[in-house]
Amino acid sequence: MTDLATDICGIPLAGPVLNGSGTFDALAARRVFGDALVEEFPFDCYVSKTITMNPRPGNPPYRLWETPSGMINSIGLPGPGVDGFLERDLVGLSELGVPLIVSVMADSAEDFAILVEKVAAREEVSGIELNVSCPNVHSGLIVGEQPSETEALMKALRPLTSKPLIVKLTPNVANPHEVALAAEAGGADSVSMINTVKAAAIDPVSNRAWLGAGAGGLSGPAVRPIALAQVRAVSSVVEIPVIGMGGISDAESALEFILAGARVVAVGTENFRDPKAGKAVTDGLPAALERRGFGSLDEAQSATLA
Ligand SMILES: Cc1cc2nc3c(=O)[nH]c(=O)nc-3n(C[C@H](O)[C@H](O)[C@H](O)COP(=O)(O)O)c2cc1C
Repeated sequence: MTDLATDICGIPLAGPVLNGSGTFDALAARRVFGDALVEEFPFDCYVSKTITMNPRPGNPPYRLWETPSGMINSIGLPGPGVDGFLERDLVGLSELGVPLIVSVMADSAEDFAILVEKVAAREEVSGIELNVSCPNVHSGLIVGEQPSETEALMKALRPLTSKPLIVKLTPNVANPHEVALAAEAGGADSVSMINTVKAAAIDPVSNRAWLGAGAGGLSGPAVRPIALAQVRAVSSVVEIPVIGMGGISDAESALEFILAGARVVAVGTENFRDPKAGKAVTDGLPAALERRGFGSLDEAQSATLA
């Protein structure tokens, strides 16, 4: 059997398949599937939904709209806030048997710093993902859309922890590689990409915006070609590893991301159709590698450097 073991930012992984933040509620899945979930956990590393400073109710309904080959969501990051997460959720997540990355978001560098310090202090946490798709209250600019904001944030956060810091990039910019280079210059250990693509839908009855928040983010196979182009553009200029995602639905599409330059991949929207999608990707990878003439995952990962 092909050995799929790899690593991301020094975190050893049994295979290259993560989940996209916010697309797999492991605690709810464990309540439904019981210990069988832990025995055959579908991912090699678990990424939490994005955690914020204070509890949030999320956006008003409706929050989802299905599109051809994808969906638009405007969930709005509902959650218990960092203290509730650390007190109640973290223990359950640490029992999943895979490394844990916690995603955090704030609207100022000061709040981001508090989140990073609180989360990094917990030994259950292997790494932190920074969701930078939020405006900075001081500048009004969306951090992840501006190289200068991204670099400044990273410089503020980098000294706070030696744990890996991963910057989740938004695709909603003309030149994602500039933001990625800024993240790297500020000390990021990795970039993950892509987050959802800005999108809207019109209610066929009321003729108004369907989503309660007015607009949301498109994900699923519809965004895959965009994600592949951006992963390719970013991985060709940064030294740090790229976590690739955006419409991965099977082993073949996961391998496309590796060949575009991602070191590891994440499955997102597909988890809503099949909660075992991550495992299906892993199980299909040896045959997908063989079909494309690779003897190992490592060979495919380095093929992109040629
Ligand atoms: C319902 C839903 C919720 C999401 N929540 C988050 C989140 O909390 N934090 C985040 O960084 N990305 C979030 N994402 C974005 C995904 O992690 C991923 O970047 C994106 O959906 C592209 O991958 P996919 O096409 O495989 O879903 C969410 C996506 C969906 C569909």
